[in-house]
Parts: sequence; structure tokens; C-alpha cells
Amino acid sequence: MSIISKFLGLFSSDMAIDLGTANTLVYVSNKGIVENQPSVVAMLNDRGMMVPHAFGEQAKKMLGRTPADILAIRPLKDGVIADFKGAEEMIKYFINNVHNKKAFFARPRVIVCVPSGSTPVERRAIQDAVECAGAREVYLIEEPMAAAIGANLPITEPTGSMIVDIGGGTTEVGIISLGGIVYAKSVRVGGDTMDEAIVAYIRKNHNLLIGESTAEMIKKEIGTAIKSKDKPRTMDIKGRDLIRGIPKEIVLSESDVADSLAEPVNQILTAVKHVLESAPPELSADIVDRGIVLSGGGALLKGLDQKISADTGLPVIVAEEPLSCVALGTGRVLEEFNELKHVLFRQD
Ligand SMILES: Nc1ncnc2c1ncn2[C@@H]1O[C@H](COP(=O)(O)OP(=O)(O)OP(=O)(O)O)[C@@H](O)[C@H]1O
Ligand SMILES: [Mg+2]
Repeated sequence: MSIISKFLGLFSSDMAIDLGTANTLVYVSNKGIVENQPSVVAMLNDRGMMVPHAFGEQAKKMLGRTPADILAIRPLKDGVIADFKGAEEMIKYFINNVHNKKAFFARPRVIVCVPSGSTPVERRAIQDAVECAGAREVYLIEEPMAAAIGANLPITEPTGSMIVDIGGGTTEVGIISLGGIVYAKSVRVGGDTMDEAIVAYIRKNHNLLIGESTAEMIKKEIGTAIKSKDKPRTMDIKGRDLIRGIPKEIVLSESDVADSLAEPVNQILTAVKHVLESAPPELSADIVDRGIVLSGGGALLKGLDQKISADTGLPVIVAEEPLSCVALGTGRVLEEFNELKHVLFRQD
């Protein structure tokens, strides 16, 4: 590393970034989480050149509502980069924000997480995007490991811990013991798949077209993985009538939403069972005692913990702060760099 780069590092705050499909969180050493915004960027077409226009919360409001010269995009899909330029601009924005816009001098050390199922090419793209955005040293960490550390699981002990992180784009299932991932599975099913399933269900059963933001709202309000025996909750939904082409409102019940979410919930269950079946017996025994920990925004889906527990016969616990687990775990590696750096790697 050059002397100049080391010198500029002195002016920089080291950062841990949870670059998620739905949300990006930034943890700064000695400060904690300083940014938590949707992973959305809006680009403006300025005489043929695409220039960044808005980020995060502000850009998310524009999704599906932009005029021709603005393009609001989610640069990550299924946990990996789908739009390199958009991702780079977004990371740059976050690094600048942390350094009070004086990013010209900032050369921070950055740890960023990647899905365990991502390919070397996809990992390299994330590493490159962070480097292009101005980082001095970039390290990667696998998401299940970061989530397990964030959930305070005893990852360095000789006991098996099982974590299931259900994000917007992927579900990561991992068994960790002695500081390493013993077995992991990543499936490209998560909150986005649930939203798409709700859109499809309402189109098919109510001839109503709704947007993905509305679907996400429905999922958060009345979504559930199991039908409750109480009186089902309902919600008024607005969208476009597919037959008459005009706006229309319907009343949707919790049990409709449960039906629409059955398929993605089953895919998550299949991944969990697959990992349980592949676990070495000693670790299986540990998991029977210690149970499964859920993290990620998807862990907040009502009844998902009960559903997984009923299907596996194991205790299931939702982590304390499911949406920030990965960022907190990555942040802890930043703080305890020398003790925990063995969980980090670089992609050549
Ligand atoms: N109360 C809730 N019920 C159901 N889903 C929720 C709830 N709150 C948030 N979510 C969903 O959680 C997802 C976001 O979770 P999270 O921030 O962990 O994902 P991410 O880290 O950005 O994605 P990934 O890890 O897959 O790249 C979104 O799909 C969101 O709709
Ligand atoms: Mg995530």
C-alpha cells in the first residue's frame, strides 16, 4: 500500500457496509450504524449522460413514478449487482455521506458482505464497485457469518449455530462452528419474491394490477405465513382494473395473502430442511438444543418463525434486530479486526 494511501486513510472512518437488495446499512467504527436507506438510486438523463439524481429514501419514492428523463433503479437484484454504475454511485454516495461530503480525501477501509451463494464474478463486482467508490482496502464477508455475529451467536466455539437470514433478494441458511461456515445454502427467494407473489395473486384472483411497492405494504401490514384462527385482518387495496382499465379498490383479507405467500414460504422451508439434512450429526445435535435463529427483514413476516418451528420440530428464535443484524455483525468484525479477521476474504 502506498504511503499516500496510508496517509489519506488517517482522515477516513472505516466502514462496514451491508449492501442489501432492499436496504443498505452503513456502520462506522466507534459510531455504530449511521445510514439505513433503501438500495435505490435515481439517475437523470442529462443530454445523453446518466447522472445521479437522488438516493435512498428519496429515490425509493420515485420507483414506478418517474418521467421519461429519470430512471429510478434498484442496482442490486438477488443480493448481487445487477447495475454496476448504479451500485457504484450508490456506494460513493454512502461513503461521501459518512465523510461529510469531503470524500475527496477519504480512503477508508471497508468490509462489505456478499451472499454465500454468489459466484466469484459477482463477488468481484461488489469488491470492484466499493474500490471504484474510493475505498482503500476492501474485504468481503459472507452474509450468514455476518448475520450470526450480529445475532451474538457463539461462532468461534465448537458448537453448531444455525442462522437463516431472509433478505429482500436472498435467503441465506448457514451452520457455523469454530469460526467457519460448515455448510451454507443461498436461495434467490426473499421479500421481493413474496411481493411478486402478492402481485400475481391479486392479478389472477381479483383482476387487479398493483405495483410492487403496494404489494410490499400489504405484506408488512397483513402478510402472514400461517392462517390465524381469529377473525382475519383486512386491508383496502387500490390498483388498476385489468378488464375495464380504470382505478379500482378491493378489500383483501389476511387469508388471501397467506395463500399468495405459501409458495415462497415453502421455498424458504425447503432450503432450511436441506441444510438440516446436510449437517454433520454432532452439529445437528447442537441445533436441536440451541434452535434456529432468524434474521433479515423477512424474519418479521408474521408467523414465519412458528411455521419453520412446526415444520422442523426445532425451536426458532427471531434475532433482536433482524433488519440490522448483518450490519451489526460486519461492524463488529471492523471493531475487533485482529480477533475476527479470519472470517474475511478478498476475491481475486
Ligand atoms: N414486517 C415485515 N414483514 C414482512 N417482510 C418485511 C417486514 N419488514 C421488512 N420486510 C421485508 O424485508 C426485506 C428487506 O430485508 P433486508 O433489509 O434484510 O434485505 P436486504 O439485506 O436488503 O436483502 P438481501 O440480504 O437479500 O440482499 C424486504 O423485502 C421487506 O419487504
Ligand atoms: Mg441482507
